[in-house]
Order: sequence, then structure tokens, then C-alpha cells
Amino acid sequence: SPGLAIYDPGFVNTASCRSSVTYIDGEEGILEYRGYPIEQLAEKSSFLEVAYLLIHGELPTKEQHDAWVHDITFHTFVHENVKTFMQGFRYDAHPMGMLMASVGALSTFYPDARNIGDDDNRQMQIIRMIAKMPTLGAWAFRHAQGKPYVYPDNDLSYTENFLAMLFKMSEQKYEADERLVKALDVLFILHADHEQNCSTNAVRSVGSSQVDPYSAVAAGVGALYGPLHGGANEAVLRMLRRIGTKENIPSFIEGVKAGNEKLMGFGHRVYKNYDPRARIIKKAAEDVFEVTGTNPLLDIALELEKIALEDEYFVSRKLYPNVDFYSGLIYEAFQFPPEMFTVLFAIGRTPGWLAQWLELVQDKEQKIARPKQIYTGDRRLTFTPASERW
Ligand code: SDX
Repeated sequence: SPGLAIYDPGFVNTASCRSSVTYIDGEEGILEYRGYPIEQLAEKSSFLEVAYLLIHGELPTKEQHDAWVHDITFHTFVHENVKTFMQGFRYDAHPMGMLMASVGALSTFYPDARNIGDDDNRQMQIIRMIAKMPTLGAWAFRHAQGKPYVYPDNDLSYTENFLAMLFKMSEQKYEADERLVKALDVLFILHADHEQNCSTNAVRSVGSSQVDPYSAVAAGVGALYGPLHGGANEAVLRMLRRIGTKENIPSFIEGVKAGNEKLMGFGHRVYKNYDPRARIIKKAAEDVFEVTGTNPLLDIALELEKIALEDEYFVSRKLYPNVDFYSGLIYEAFQFPPEMFTVLFAIGRTPGWLAQWLELVQDKEQKIARPKQIYTGDRRLTFTPASERW
């Protein structure tokens, strides 16, 4: 049933479950949210409308959309005690660690969230989490910078409000360049869901115990934190910086082919073709760089992609750029430090995690996740007491 991870009897850790949220065709490089192609949503929709689509399974009417935006805007504030909790972290705490802990902490502020059988209650928690993720993410950023936390300004749109909480430095009204707001909104859309990826699998597995959704999403944040998953965008920038110049690319590629390291931002468990999100991100990068100026690492990334896509090692293994290969370059142009890149990924992915969690808890046949195991240890040994062994 949806969400029950049934691991196949191999050492390859694959899982299978039925879902109607997101469709991917890895060979053709197709991605659809509730049947709508990602290219159309990225071009014509907004992040909050896409979030509504993922959660409710259909596009909203004007009334539904306006009520949805109102409710999310109304819940952007976070309890003051959560702010106090966040201020207790070390000055150099990684924002993803702070986000994971703070989302988990929210479960203690809404005890009714454990009543996951009530739909109105589920919808309330979903709205709260979509609304509060940017506030928590921005506060983690401000904490790392040693700056005062900025409260939400609910006169601003969702994405502009997030930018204001990140970058506002005075009492003046914050105004972001609308091209940057649009580009970040598109990036959130591109990250909104991706069927049964590692972090969504964590949300479903933890959610299958019927715990509250904050605890399940905190588990997803933890999985996304890893460099093979959401942390790859941060790793791509470190890799490009280490390569340093186009002239160094051939020797770097040889190191990858020798197995010394992976080409971060390349390869995917499902896509054995170009990740459609990477194409769209590459276009969004051009729009952002018009405002911010080109990121000097872009030339290295473009040359690296060109060389890799012509190299038998990558072609034979069907390794193409994934969503993380270019996203970090844009985030850096926004002046985000690398440790914030995965926080941006988590904010975008929240509606997807919650849509998958909702599908799981609404499935009456759902059982707790309990993957099959292949036992490879010893059997029926005779115990020798320590006095005879030492
Ligand atoms: C995300 O699942 C999702 O949907 C995730 C995501 C989402 O939206 O949620 O799309 C987001 O996580 C994107 C992926 C971000 N991670 C990275 O960019 C890290 C670098 N990529 C690799 O670690 C790797 O490609 C994975 C983890 C993404 C996928 O690994 P697979 O499918 O398990 O591939 P594999 O390890 O079986 O590799 C097959 C072969 C191996 O070579 P051989 O053993 O056959 O010689 O390809 C090689 C691998 O060594 N390989 C790579 C490589 N990725 C795989 N070689 C060099 N560089 C790489 N990046």
C-alpha cells in the first residue's frame, strides 16, 4: 500500500509504493506533479499554487487559492519559545541541524497534531508547516550570521517575506527585485516533490508509525541534510571552487573516473537522462545573473558539463546533471552561504513531504513500515561465559 516501503531481497536498497502525487519517467526525463508537467508549472504557476495542487490533488479555484494564501500568510509567525530555543544553538551551528531540531520542536507546541485521524486537524498542521518553514530557515541563517532575527512581514508575498527575513537590515520596508523573487519561487516549485526520494521515504516511514507530521517532516529534513541527497548543491559549489579553472577540469575528471570522488550534481537514482529540473534551473540562472552579475563558477560548471556529457565513463553510466548541479550557483548569486542551500531545498520540498504524508495517513490499509531483511549473520551459537573466555 502507499508508503509501506517493501525493500526487495537484494543488497540494493530499493523500495516500492503506490502514490498519485508525482510521476517521474527516468529514461525520458519526465516529471509531473499531479499530472501537470514541471515545465508548465515552473513557467505559469506560483509556489503556493503548486503547494495547493500537491496537497489537494487539483488546481485551486480563485476562492480556494486566496483562502490558502491567507491561511499560510496568517501562520508565518513562530512561538517565541521556539525562537529562544534556536538562540541556544552554538554560533556556528549548521542551519540544517537547527531546522531539523526546530521542526521537531514544533511537535511539542501543537499537541493536537497527534490527532492525525481528523482531516481539519491535518490541514491545520500542513498550513502551519508550509507557513513556518521559511521563518525557521531565515532565523537559522540570521543566527549563523549573529544578526537579530527578523519577524515575518505579512504584507509581503510568501517568497518575498522569506527574503526579507533573511536580508532585511533596517526598519525600512524590504523590497526585493521581482526577478529574484520570481526565480526563487521557481526554484521552490522545482524542489516541491520528487516521488519516493530518500527524504520522502523517511517522512513516510516515520509517518507510518502515526506520529505527528512535525516529527515525520523533521526526519525528512535529517535525510535531506546528507551530501548524497539535498546536501549535494552545497557540495557542487565546493567542488567547482576546488577545480578553480577550466584548465583543471580534465585532471579532475580523471580523478572521478579513477573513483577518487564523485562528480557532485551528476547522476540520479531514477533519471538516466537529463533531469528536467536542471534544464529549467539553467534558464532561471540566466535571469538571476542579469540582476546579480554572472557567477564566475558558471563557466567552469558549463565546461564541466560539456566535457562529462562527451565522456564515455559518464555516458555509459547514464550520468547527467541533476537538480543540484546549477542550483547552488543561483543561491550563491543571491548571497546565500553554501550551508543555506539545503535549507532552501527543504522549504521547497515541504509541500511534497506533506502531500506524501497525507496520502499515507489517509490510506486505511496503511501499516507501519517494516522493511524485509536478508539475515547474513551467524546462527545458533553456544554462549561461553566471560569467565571461560577471558
Ligand atoms: C537529489 O531521489 C531523488 O529524487 C533525489 C532528488 C530529489 O529531488 O529528491 O532528485 C535530489 O538527491 C539529487 C542527487 C544529488 N546527489 C548528487 O549529486 C551526489 C552525486 N551523485 C551520486 O552520489 C549518485 O549519482 C546518486 C547517489 C545520486 C545516485 O546514485 P545511484 O543511482 O545509486 O548510482 P550508483 O551509485 O549505483 O552509480 C552507478 C555508477 C557507479 O559506477 P560503477 O560502480 O558502475 O563503476 O555510476 C557511478 C557509480 O560510481 N556514479 C558516479 C556518480 N553517480 C554515480 N560517478 C561519478 N560521479 C557521480 N556523481
